[in-house]
Amino acid sequence: MRLFGRAVLATALLFSATGAAADPLAPTGRWSAYERAAARTPPMGWNSWNAFTSDIDEEKVMASARILVDAGLAAKGYRYVNIDDGWWLKRRKSDGRMLVRAERFPSAATPNGDTSFRPLTDRLHAMGLKAGIYSDIGRNSCGQVFTSTFPNQPEGDIDEREVGLHGHVDQDIRLYFEEWGFDLIKVDGCGVRGLGPADPRVKAGLYRALGPLVDADSLGRTDVATTRGLYEAVGQALDRSNPDGDFVYSLCLWGAADVRAWGKNVGAMSRTSEDISPTWSRMLHNLDSVSRRPLYAHPGSWNDPDMLYVGKGDFDERHLIEARSHFALWAMVNAPLIIGYDLRTAAPALLDVLGAKQIIAVNQDPAGNQAVLAFDSADVSIWVKTLADGDKAVAILNRTAAPAEAVLTADHLKFLPTAEVELADLWTGEASRFQGEQKLQLAPHQTLVYRAHGARKLADGLFLSEQPGRVNPAVDGVVTPQADPLIHRAILPWRGTRGLGEPPRYGGWGGAQADRTPYDQELAVAGQRFDTGLGVLANSRLEVRNAGFQRFTAKVGIDDSAIGGGQAVTFLIYGDGKLMGQSRPMKFGEAPQALDVEIGGVKLIELVARASKPTPVPQPVTWGEAALRR
Ligand code: GLA
Repeated sequence: MRLFGRAVLATALLFSATGAAADPLAPTGRWSAYERAAARTPPMGWNSWNAFTSDIDEEKVMASARILVDAGLAAKGYRYVNIDDGWWLKRRKSDGRMLVRAERFPSAATPNGDTSFRPLTDRLHAMGLKAGIYSDIGRNSCGQVFTSTFPNQPEGDIDEREVGLHGHVDQDIRLYFEEWGFDLIKVDGCGVRGLGPADPRVKAGLYRALGPLVDADSLGRTDVATTRGLYEAVGQALDRSNPDGDFVYSLCLWGAADVRAWGKNVGAMSRTSEDISPTWSRMLHNLDSVSRRPLYAHPGSWNDPDMLYVGKGDFDERHLIEARSHFALWAMVNAPLIIGYDLRTAAPALLDVLGAKQIIAVNQDPAGNQAVLAFDSADVSIWVKTLADGDKAVAILNRTAAPAEAVLTADHLKFLPTAEVELADLWTGEASRFQGEQKLQLAPHQTLVYRAHGARKLADGLFLSEQPGRVNPAVDGVVTPQADPLIHRAILPWRGTRGLGEPPRYGGWGGAQADRTPYDQELAVAGQRFDTGLGVLANSRLEVRNAGFQRFTAKVGIDDSAIGGGQAVTFLIYGDGKLMGQSRPMKFGEAPQALDVEIGGVKLIELVARASKPTPVPQPVTWGEAALRR
């Protein structure tokens, strides 16, 4: 199978009704990232998987729901109660209807044997909660493919055990949403990953072959376009079955199939990595799978580094420093805050972590800006998140098991170094001040989190790199998806140190970045460095939501990290589909050109960097100090 070329072609060219190739860089005047009524801020709730794997039942789910309410967590935003793998019994042969394992979920039993989750979702709704269900994009489930020794596997013959959505999309989505009243669905991808014709279970006649479409170890062997198409079809069914738009579509493709680039167009949240485990190192791995993707998350569509493991292993009540770090970091990167813990056994100290109001407020801030890396190393990382009122949330993480010293600067915060910066510690409430820079001592694995108030460097506007929630890389210029090498490499718990170790595997390298080039260099044009700006490849189109600003300003050029001698690139600025300004064609090594364009009254700005000829290796270009001004 070598279908990858097709995927690239499909994303590079859009065909109009007349059959002519449409220009993907042509302005559309339209915001194209996914947004529906729900998930304007990252969804919060509970999911059964990290707590119980597939060993679930009604008592466990309802007890967890009751604790969400009784412990005050629901009032703080944790509203989704999501049933993961293990709920299904089989697909009925006569009509393909999915049946619930009523032995485990007694309220689902009906006199005629149809089974219905309606009584359970009714009870959750009556408690002020929302209900989530789980399925797979293929014919078979993750349990069947990867954890067949876990309890509650689907039963029956080969057809009855086909519990995934494939071939039943409309039927199942209608059942889960219209008939049973669910509000969220998590759609896993194991059925298109693990059951190819060579699989011994397929050969033995236990399952029908499907694909495989996804090879998690090889983007080249993955059929990106077909996989994406399957997920899009489910999204369309969800729109049809939810006229009020109040539903959450949760994609679970573990960073495979280049989903880190397109998940933002297809669902409300999208997994960017393999499953988290309750170890410090895997937490870092999952965190880093979103670290450099702030431009790929917006209100209505979030990067999902997987569910919380607060409460277990390295994050249990004996490791509150680690538990707080994990929680605060998820809050900063706008991860959905989905508790994965048996709340029946929760120590009060852990409920305090999960219920920390100031940290939750950072996650739920209405501006929806995912934190941007302001400093990064294998030892200490600093993230800054611009809040709706212009203050910053800043997190300083000590990745190591030894104490560390960090220096937080006003520059990190894009505040003036000459004015005072006020800090409020979001765990303790303690207030402090500094000017210029501040030394900070970090305990092993500690994350300090502050709300910072200061004099903004750009007094009359917003730098776009402070506002990733309003910048969408509609076309990011990536021609051939490549694996991102900058993700913390942890031991995979289920593989240990056997083999070579986990190589880079999640597509996204070369994607659009805030304050960095697509390949993680400092932004610079002809020797002029920019600590602020957008880095993207040539032949790209960025959509930017205006908010009453009058001018767009930037200093543009081909980034110094490009390999010299490439094509000339022209920078064009459109407002609601009309050309408002442009640069001259610019070549590598030319000094940055300053642009200042009137955009008063415009709703959607599009920033296009167009090369004179498409090249297989596009050059990084820089929108230095790109800003919306009054
Ligand atoms: C996959 C997902 C997990 C969980 C399990 C269930 O591994 O990534 O989050 O849903 O399947 O089997």
